[in-house]
Amino acid sequence: MFEVGPLYEANLDAIDDVIVNQGGTSSGKTYSILQVLFTKAIQEPNQVITIVGQDIPNLKKGALRDAETIIAGSRELQGFITDYNRTDRVFKFWNGSVMEFTSYQNAQDAKSGKRDYLFVNEANGIAYSIYQELEMRTRKQVYIDYNPNAEFWVHTEVLAGKSVKLLISDHRHNPFCPDKIREKIEALRFKDHELFKVYGRGLTGKIEGLIFRNWNLVDEIPKEATLVAHGLDFGFTNDPTACPSVYKFNGELWVTERFYETGMTNPVIADRMRQVGIRTTDEVVADSAEPKSITELTNYGFNVWAANKGADSVKNSIDILKRWTMNITKDSTNLRRELNMYKWRQDKDGKTLNEPVDFNNHLIDALRYVGLNKLGNNNNGRYVLS
Ligand SMILES: Nc1ncnc2c1ncn2[C@@H]1O[C@H](COP(=O)(O)OP(=O)(O)O)[C@@H](O)[C@H]1O
Ligand SMILES: [Mg+2]
Repeated sequence: MFEVGPLYEANLDAIDDVIVNQGGTSSGKTYSILQVLFTKAIQEPNQVITIVGQDIPNLKKGALRDAETIIAGSRELQGFITDYNRTDRVFKFWNGSVMEFTSYQNAQDAKSGKRDYLFVNEANGIAYSIYQELEMRTRKQVYIDYNPNAEFWVHTEVLAGKSVKLLISDHRHNPFCPDKIREKIEALRFKDHELFKVYGRGLTGKIEGLIFRNWNLVDEIPKEATLVAHGLDFGFTNDPTACPSVYKFNGELWVTERFYETGMTNPVIADRMRQVGIRTTDEVVADSAEPKSITELTNYGFNVWAANKGADSVKNSIDILKRWTMNITKDSTNLRRELNMYKWRQDKDGKTLNEPVDFNNHLIDALRYVGLNKLGNNNNGRYVLS
């Protein structure tokens, strides 16, 4: 029905009540568990399967998108699905099984409904009290996945229980991981020991020394906020093209991610910019490494210009952004992930260097361009600050 990797087999074969998938980045955890759940939905009639994420935006950009990709890639699977309600995020199967993607506000909220199978996606973003209520109302099996960037309730509570299987995986267990991504993950070994341990090998670590701690989550950008600029960092095959928007309100910064996608050509970027409401009069501060892309986007009518970098621009732009309180919208899930692993490099002796670990920092780079060029005092005379 679909191509599978070893994690699929391991999860499908597990007979334990709880199957914990701890792993590094891109090890195939989410994909494999979803494939197992599709298998169960089809093989057993009238199953209720719940997939839980920390919030709906995270599900939509993560597990739900993966599920849609798996379905799109399998004619056979499509034949088993009779209905998909996008609003409620519920798939219905010909044999009466249903698969729902949802999130819960609190433990009380999680008391509603019962299910046969439960998948707790990126469990470290979900409260233990919510998990307890869900687990209690699951008749058959629970699957859990996460990157172990710190010890949390799965380690202290779940793994200590009975009938629990722990599967530790990393990109080497995912036959579908592109080589370029593998290289980036392996390169972490020389960049940061702790990040390598967690994201490269799936071993429980403690990510400390994060660069940005001056941010909190908000529902949305206030209507009264004024635009500072949009940022744009170019990627293509392996790196996403990343676009955050930065606003000012109440003496604070308000930031939201607009898009974060691989494989975007310049016409596609222009389309997306239009789609997300970027006006041709808005300033867009872009990665200066791609003058051709900048020119093309300018030809599409956008006000895109190359970020001034200058000496020490990374350090300087970080210093500038650190002076502000940054309010990040909840649906900026990629930015949130980047911020949670953006840290200073350390030398062999553990001494902190003046340079961040260059890994998963696309939206942050775009944010830095805006910081340096629109919020700093070194604009090379190009723009007068408001
Ligand atoms: N069985 C599969 N078939 C095709 N592609 C897969 C498969 N398993 C994983 N992949 C690819 O690998 C990527 C990473 O897998 P994912 O499950 O998201 O990793 P993790 O959840 O461990 O970070 C997916 O986005 C997908 O492109
Ligand atoms: Mg995942």
